[in-house]
Amino acid sequence: MSATIIDGAALAAEIRQQCTQRAAALTARGHRPGLAVVLVGDSQASAVYVRHKINDCAQVGIHSELVQLPAHTDEQTVLDHVRRLNEAPDIHGILVQLPLPDQIAERRVIETISPAKDVDGFHVANAGALMTGQRGFAPCTPYGVMHMLAHAGVELAGAEAVVVGRSNIVGKPQAMMLLAADATVTLCHSRTRDLAEHTRRADVLIAAVGRAKMITGDMIKPGAVVVDVGMNRDENGRLCGDVDFESAAAVASRITPVPGGVGPMTRAMLLVNTLNATEIAAGAA
Ligand code: GUN
Repeated sequence: MSATIIDGAALAAEIRQQCTQRAAALTARGHRPGLAVVLVGDSQASAVYVRHKINDCAQVGIHSELVQLPAHTDEQTVLDHVRRLNEAPDIHGILVQLPLPDQIAERRVIETISPAKDVDGFHVANAGALMTGQRGFAPCTPYGVMHMLAHAGVELAGAEAVVVGRSNIVGKPQAMMLLAADATVTLCHSRTRDLAEHTRRADVLIAAVGRAKMITGDMIKPGAVVVDVGMNRDENGRLCGDVDFESAAAVASRITPVPGGVGPMTRAMLLVNTLNATEIAAGAA
C-alpha cells in the first residue's frame, strides 16, 4: 500500500469537540440546541443509525427527541409530527430517517419539514440553495466529504473530480459542492458508458454507488485522491465500501477507509448543521 489514509474517525472526533463548545455556548445563552429524529418502522439498519445520531447529540450536549412510530403508521400521522416539530421552540433540527415505509410519500414528508430545520439538507429549498450558491443546509455526507478533502489539503480548483453515483442524498449534491469549489466535475451513473474511462481521469474520485468493491485499482489514476462513500457487506459479511481498498490503495495517493472514513463524518456534519440551525434561530430570536 502506498496511499495515505484520510482518517474520518479522527477528524469527526475533532469536529465533535468543537460542537461541544458551540453547544455549551448556545445553552449558556439560553438557546439549548435540539434535534428531533423521526424513525418509522422496524428496520434494524435505520435503528442503528438513529441510535448513533441520538448518542452523538448526548455526547456534545445537544438535546434530542426521538419520535418512534410503528411500520403501519399512515402518512398523515408522520406529517402531523413534522408540523408539530416545525413549531417546537426547543427543536432546531428535524431528521426523518429514510427509507420510509411504502405507504408514506418520502417527498411529501421532506417538503413538510421547515427548510430552516432541515438539517439533512433534503428539502427542495435547500437543494436549490446549494445549486444556486445561496446559504442553506448541505446534505451531511457530501458536506463531510468536502471537509475531509479540505482538511487533507486537497487542491480542488481546476482538478478533475469524478463522482460515481447520482443519488439526491450524495451524488448530485456532491457534484454541486465540488463545482462550487472550482473542480471540473463529471457525474457518472449506472448508464455511463465505459465507467473506467472516466474514473481514470479523476484527480479526485468519489464513489457513491452502493456496490461492494466495484471501483478497483486499475480504474484509478496513479496519485489520485479516493473517497469511498459506500457502506456494503462483502461476500464474507464484512463491512466494505464501493472501492476495492487493497488494489486502490496501491495506486492512490490518499484514500478513505470503510469503516472509519466518510461514515463518522456524516454523523459529525449532522451535529454541525444542527448547531448552525440553532445559531441562526438564536440570532433571529
Ligand atoms: N438514510 C440513509 N442515509 C440517511 C441520511 O443521511 N438521512 C436520513 N434522514 N436518512 C438516511
